[in-house]
Amino acid sequence: MSFVVPVRTAPLRLTELPWQHPTMLAPLEGVSHPTFRAMIAELGGVGIVCTEFVRIGTAALAPRSIVDQVVHAPGVPLSVQVMGTHIENMADAARLVAEAGADVVDINLGCPAPRVVRKGAGSAMLKDPALLHDVLCAMRSQVPGIFSAKIRAGFDDRSSVVDIARTVEAAGVDFIIVHPRRRVDFYEGVADWRTIAILREHLRIPVVGNGDCWYAADVARMRAETGCHGVMLGRPALRNPWIFQQAQALAEGRQPFRPDGAALHGWLEAVCQRYTHDMPEHRRGIIGKVKELLTWLGRTVRDGGTFRREVLRLATIDEILAYSDTHVAPLGADALDLDACPEEPLERSGSANLVVEDGAGGRWLGGGRADSLESSAGSPPASLAVRDTGASTEASTEASTEASTDATTEASTGEVVTPAPRVHARGCA
Ligand SMILES: Cc1cc2nc3c(=O)[nH]c(=O)nc-3n(C[C@H](O)[C@H](O)[C@H](O)COP(=O)(O)O)c2cc1C
Repeated sequence: MSFVVPVRTAPLRLTELPWQHPTMLAPLEGVSHPTFRAMIAELGGVGIVCTEFVRIGTAALAPRSIVDQVVHAPGVPLSVQVMGTHIENMADAARLVAEAGADVVDINLGCPAPRVVRKGAGSAMLKDPALLHDVLCAMRSQVPGIFSAKIRAGFDDRSSVVDIARTVEAAGVDFIIVHPRRRVDFYEGVADWRTIAILREHLRIPVVGNGDCWYAADVARMRAETGCHGVMLGRPALRNPWIFQQAQALAEGRQPFRPDGAALHGWLEAVCQRYTHDMPEHRRGIIGKVKELLTWLGRTVRDGGTFRREVLRLATIDEILAYSDTHVAPLGADALDLDACPEEPLERSGSANLVVEDGAGGRWLGGGRADSLESSAGSPPASLAVRDTGASTEASTEASTEASTDATTEASTGEVVTPAPRVHARGCA
């Protein structure tokens, strides 16, 4: 077997993330292609950008198609994600992308899509620690540089998240990214950042938090509440492409950029131009890609959803840009939800400090330090169980659901979880 000869000679033992900024653009299937990665990198403030997953099957590898994924955005490091269960193929794929110049090789252990889970890949690997260990060790042996793993909080319960993360760490992974929903949650509810805090306490490798960090100020808040070393942003960057540079401005005590309608319209124009120019092979599909972004950008317009609804009905790029020019370009910043630290946010951000209401008048604050979460010895702690609805939402792709914007999450117990009052991060009024 090709992977048994170790290539790596000395462990890196990362204690911090080695990039200029502690932020990552998440892997986003169908969206985080080279053009989008480059455009986000150009806006500044992002530490590293990630490719969507490259599916590694059980048949002989097609090296060219794997290596072709290694496309850097100028000036920003690149993480290339692979997903699969075949030990040798995963090791070979990891070697190929590392040799082709990926700054980080990442393994997908979180994809919830039924088509992926049925094959035992993505989040299904969280249920199989022995396979997980073998795949990770095989990949580790072939990656001389940085190797990371992106996990969810579990498959259908979160009580073994520490064991999973320890398996990951023991295999020599350099840092871990955690999106603290379980597979059965898909994108339901609000990300419970306490899981990130737990991993931060129990691991020696750096931990990157991910999930529902909708505003730039949430980046600092997630780090403060969980102690995580870095923050990964996915949908929030589709919604607000300036979020990384805003987070950097806040971290440096500067006034963050406040996008108005002209800026948002300008971004949409740039997207249309660049996508059309860079992806001639997708000529017909460009409108679909632009509309996918518009579903997120449209959420920032404070008009009850009218712009989003109307613009998604249009048939051509020209019609979309004309409509945006009339309806978005004239808007002031107050008409948009793009501030770094909004007074009236439209999205529900995650928290490690959840206010839990028991439906009988009881209220308490969950979160803070995470010790108590493990004290239930294997079973989900009561304070987390309130969000375990057990409902599995079928989704055809990882990308197919949007964040719930409901004000509260009804759990099967009748209990309700709402985020704690927003904490204003440094730099916000
Ligand atoms: C459109 C879309 C595509 C995604 N594709 C991937 C993927 O290829 N690999 C992966 O690990 N996660 C993928 N995810 C999950 C995100 O990387 C991220 O973990 C999740 O959206 C939660 O973070 P957020 O709240 O910042 O969006 C995808 C999510 C979306 C919405």
